[in-house]
Amino acid sequence: MVTGSQVGVGFIGCGAIGRDIARAIQAGSVPGAVVAALFDVDENQGRTLAAVLEGDIPFSTDIQEFLSADGLNLVVECASPVAVRAHAKDALLAKKDMIVMSTGALVDEELLAELSETAQAQGCRLMAPSGAIGGIDAIRAAEDGLDEVTLTTTKRPEGLRGSPGFRDWEDREITDPQVIYDGPAVDGIKLFPANVNVAATLSLAGLGPQKTKLKVVADPDAPGNVHQIEAKGDFGMMRFTFENRPHPDNPRTSYLAILSAIELLRQACGTGPRIGT
Ligand SMILES: NC(=O)c1ccc[n+]([C@@H]2O[C@H](COP(=O)([O-])OP(=O)(O)OC[C@H]3O[C@@H](n4cnc5c(N)ncnc54)[C@H](O)[C@@H]3O)[C@@H](O)[C@H]2O)c1
Repeated sequence: MVTGSQVGVGFIGCGAIGRDIARAIQAGSVPGAVVAALFDVDENQGRTLAAVLEGDIPFSTDIQEFLSADGLNLVVECASPVAVRAHAKDALLAKKDMIVMSTGALVDEELLAELSETAQAQGCRLMAPSGAIGGIDAIRAAEDGLDEVTLTTTKRPEGLRGSPGFRDWEDREITDPQVIYDGPAVDGIKLFPANVNVAATLSLAGLGPQKTKLKVVADPDAPGNVHQIEAKGDFGMMRFTFENRPHPDNPRTSYLAILSAIELLRQACGTGPRIGT
């Protein structure tokens, strides 16, 4: 049950991210938050998560029923870009704050504008965590004076298999690091959909998907999914490197993305001092 001073958090998507954030809330990692409701297209996923959570958390496959759950104030989308397109506006219209994990969906300028306008009209917040990368605060702060932002993502060849951008490399043996793509993020996002969220979040924070540059490198010795960001502008130069461990239940998701979402929730639910921009 959600009491007056608590923030009731609901999840669109009960997979690796939804499960970990919901459990973190119940373990007390997000003071002031409680798990209020679950939604998933896959009934089995939702029922499995409800069974491991404490209390009788309502699960629904009907979005309006989910959005009308008792005490629900904030919705975390951790499902898919399709779910953002299908349900984010409904959540905002129901006056719920919204955290979007599938940030690739927000590269669609029309959708982003529609959701931003709806959030503003309803007095709600539309938020996205830094996810599997960091440095987003500095990129945003420097936004007006940014000249160049480049993301270099290095993965083992098996992590790129199946992507349309890797088609010409599928049957080739890769023994040294090879640049598979070098171009604007907007095209790279389509060619490497599994890399979409990192490139999208960085683009949205800085120069946009047309001007942000993306390099995808296949390296058989890569220590995990490595994201290097280099930004230049009036402020000087910044460079960040992230060597991410995959989530044990979903190797396509970096564990850091979950920690990042939990921290964003702490900021959204908390009243304490806020450190960092
Ligand atoms: N922002 C970031 O840096 C970042 C990092 C990792 C993952 N992600 C994104 O977060 C999302 C969730 O990741 P995950 O690892 O938890 O995935 P997952 O596959 O483990 O779980 C996704 C869950 O969402 C459900 N689902 C899928 N489409 C749905 C829809 N249209 N409506 C309702 N439920 C739906 C699935 O049944 C599943 O239970 C993905 O889109 C992923 O790309 C973002």
